[in-house]
Amino acid sequence: MKKNLAINGGPKTIDRNFPWPVFDETDVNAVADVVRSGQWGNPDCADLVKAFEDEFAAFCGTKYALTCVNGSVALRLALIACGVRPGDEVIIPPYTFIATSTIVLEANCVPVFVDIDPDTYNLDPSKIEAVITKRTKAIIPVHFAGQACEMDKIMAIAKKHNLKVIEDACHGHGAEYKGKKLGSIGDAGCFSFQSSKNLNCGEGGMVITNDEKLYDMINSLRNVGRVKGGQWYEHHYLGCNYRITQLQIALLSNQMKKLKEETNRRFNNGNYLNSLLEKIDGIKPLSRGKGETIHSYHIYIFKYDKSKFNNLPKPEFARMLAAEGVPCFMGYPQPLYKQPLFQKKNFMCYAIPEDVDYTKVCCPVTEKACYEEAVWIMQTGMLGPKEDMEKYAEAIIKIQKAVRE
Ligand SMILES: Cc1ncc(COP(=O)(O)O)c(C=O)c1O
Repeated sequence: MKKNLAINGGPKTIDRNFPWPVFDETDVNAVADVVRSGQWGNPDCADLVKAFEDEFAAFCGTKYALTCVNGSVALRLALIACGVRPGDEVIIPPYTFIATSTIVLEANCVPVFVDIDPDTYNLDPSKIEAVITKRTKAIIPVHFAGQACEMDKIMAIAKKHNLKVIEDACHGHGAEYKGKKLGSIGDAGCFSFQSSKNLNCGEGGMVITNDEKLYDMINSLRNVGRVKGGQWYEHHYLGCNYRITQLQIALLSNQMKKLKEETNRRFNNGNYLNSLLEKIDGIKPLSRGKGETIHSYHIYIFKYDKSKFNNLPKPEFARMLAAEGVPCFMGYPQPLYKQPLFQKKNFMCYAIPEDVDYTKVCCPVTEKACYEEAVWIMQTGMLGPKEDMEKYAEAIIKIQKAVRE
C-alpha cells in the first residue's frame, strides 16, 4: 500500500506547479519604465520613493513610512532609533527568523528569549514580565506567519515597564489585529519585501511609525547620517547607505495594487483549510481568535501529532507531503538560541556582556514546535483555488492511511 505514496513512486495528489513570484506584464513595464528613465537610484527619484512610502503609510494607518534595503535593516534602524544602549536587553521569541535576534546583537544589546504560546506560536504575553529587569528596554513581538500577536497585552506590559515595542511584521503585510494593520500598533513596525514575502520586490524593507522623532532618526540613519536641511557632505549620526532603489519601488508599487485581493484570497483559503484539517485525527491548525481580524497567511502552520501517524517522525511526514505535491516544509529545525551563533557566542566584534550564556536557555513550547509538531505550507500554496486546500487535506489523509496500514 505504501507504494501508492508519491514518495515511493505513486501518483502525486497535486500535480501542478506553484508559480512564484506572481507577476504580469504590468510589473515588467513598470520596471522597464524606470530603466528607460535613467533614474535608478535614490535620491535621484526621492519623490517617487516618498509617494510609495506615503501610500504604504496610508494603507497601514500610520503617519510615516520609511523604505530601506531589507526587513533586517528596518528592524535594526527602528531598534537603534529607539535609543537602546550597549548591554540593554530586548525581549524576542525564539520561533522566528534569525534576523529578529541578530539585529539586537548588532545594536550591542542582549536578546532575551521568551517562549511562544502553544496555540498561536507567537510570543506568549503571560511569560514576558518574569524576564523583565532594569536593563530591559524593548520587546520585539513577531507576528509569525502573518498571525497577529496579542498586542493589547503586550502594549500594556510595555507601558507598565516603560519599554519600546517594535513589531516584526515581516510576514504581516495587510494583516490586522482588532481592525488595525500589523506594524501600526507599537512604537514602530517593520516589514520585509524579500523575495518570499507576500509583497516583494526581491529585497527591500519598510519601517512604519507615528513618532516624528523616530521618523527623523531612521531617515537619517538610512541615509549616511544626513539630516533635514543639512549639506550633502554633512553627517550627524552613525548611519549607512540603506536606501532602496527606484527599480524596487516600481515593482513594489505595482505589486501593492494586488496585495488587498491576494490577502483576502489567502485569508479565505486559510479559513477553509482550517475547517478541513481540524477534522483529521492528529492534525491541528494553529488557533485563531486572539485578536487577529485578518491573517495574511504568509505561512499556513499546522501541528502534527506523530502518535496518530504510526510514529512517523515529522521531517519524514513533511517530505512525504511535499512529494505529494503540497508546497510544504518542516519549518525551523531548532529554536534560535540553539543556533551555533548563540551556543558558541560567535558575536565577533559586538560588545555583548561576558556573562551572557545561552547554553541553559530552554523554551519547551518552541522546542516542541521545532522538533515534533510544526509543519508549514509555504506562501506559494495559499494563493490558488479552494480545490488546492481540499487536495492538501486529501494528501494528509492519504499519508495517514498508508502509514497506518
Ligand atoms: C520574521 C522575520 N523577521 C525579519 C526578517 C528579515 O527580513 P529580510 O530578509 O528582508 O532582511 C525575516 C525574513 O525572512 C523574517 O521572516
